[in-house]
Amino acid sequence: MDVHHKVAKEKSLAPDLAVNAVLVPSQELPAETPIVSGYDWENGTDYNKILESYTRSGFQATSFGRAVEEINKMLKSRSVPLTEENSDCYEEDIFIKKKTNCTIFLGYTSNMISSGLRDTIRFLVKNKLVDCVVTTAGGIEEDLIKCLAPTYVGEFNLSGKMLRLRGINRIGNLLVPNDNYCLFEEWVTPLLNEMLDEQISDGTVWSPSKIIARLGEKINDETSVCYWAWRNNIPIFSPALTDGSLGDMMYFHSFKRPGLIIDILGDLRRLNTMAVKANNTGMIILGGGVIKHHINNANLMRNGADFAVYVNTASEFDGSDSGARPDEAVSWGKIRPNATPVKLYADATLVFPLLVAQTFAKYHFSSKKNV
Ligand SMILES: NC(=O)c1ccc[n+]([C@@H]2O[C@H](COP(=O)([O-])OP(=O)(O)OC[C@H]3O[C@@H](n4cnc5c(N)ncnc54)[C@H](O)[C@@H]3O)[C@@H](O)[C@H]2O)c1
Repeated sequence: MDVHHKVAKEKSLAPDLAVNAVLVPSQELPAETPIVSGYDWENGTDYNKILESYTRSGFQATSFGRAVEEINKMLKSRSVPLTEENSDCYEEDIFIKKKTNCTIFLGYTSNMISSGLRDTIRFLVKNKLVDCVVTTAGGIEEDLIKCLAPTYVGEFNLSGKMLRLRGINRIGNLLVPNDNYCLFEEWVTPLLNEMLDEQISDGTVWSPSKIIARLGEKINDETSVCYWAWRNNIPIFSPALTDGSLGDMMYFHSFKRPGLIIDILGDLRRLNTMAVKANNTGMIILGGGVIKHHINNANLMRNGADFAVYVNTASEFDGSDSGARPDEAVSWGKIRPNATPVKLYADATLVFPLLVAQTFAKYHFSSKKNV
């Protein structure tokens, strides 16, 4: 009997059953177990230290700290130079050719591009900090449309009926005037004509990633993620490219000039080849659905990713792939069993800029200083 137990028994006449139940003695925790603590406000407001304190705070703050560690592992692996032996000298497709020792796959749902996260994603793509992007159709068109006209901040509770009468579309608490999509149609239709012409005259086989690269080139705007992806030879994959305004435009175009064919299998080969040839891979996946599975499935082709961070709000109780924790992907061979993947349950608009601040931004700006 331990001391507290003995004292409690001696001092009170409480029933043994209750005392034994409440005062169960503890076994020692391993010596390295971290002690919970928070930020010391006597330091003033030091955002870096606040974020560093998250690791020991518990709940999703601890997951945030672990996600920082996991991304930093990707960056450490990435900083190992490629050797003559393990570089990809025979690959002719410059977009999928291995560029670093750790190929980073970044996935995000469409709404991330509708939001201000577009600017954080552009930082990563512009500075070649990721190698491959997977997003859904809205993640392409919203990026391009923002070059033509702005998206506004509104409210979640604005009436759908009132907005419809005014020709305003709502994405959460963001507002996109319908005129923006009319501008998009004017911009994109001549490009669809060009693509169809090239298909007919040169036998060009268009896949979603090739279409996206062409649109990125043509938008010619440094605020665009697609522009930087094209300029830096970073492929953007979007297997369901027609499920958005771009699909609406392709549908209308198909009445004016039928015949444009889009090859999704060609893109699957490109994406899977990147995973198969990579020395190491890291997955950073913001949100769920197609983008999450597409990256995970590509990594199955190499017997699993080495590093993984999921940021999403989905739960696993309904059996959805969106909500599946990394351990489910381990069971399928999509993440390696010895990996240390992290799932951070959070709205990506809140946490992703902070994650980038603690990882990619430090890596990028410190390597620039060292040049
Ligand atoms: N702006 C838009 O959202 C938009 C525009 C045009 C077309 N679409 C189309 O709608 C379809 C469905 O969209 P989707 O597959 O991109 O994703 P989605 O919006 O259906 O989201 C999938 C899951 O990702 C998670 N998620 C979403 N936003 C999150 C956030 N901010 N933080 C954390 N987790 C988050 C949630 O668990 C969600 O259930 C796609 O085909 C897309 O092209 C969307």
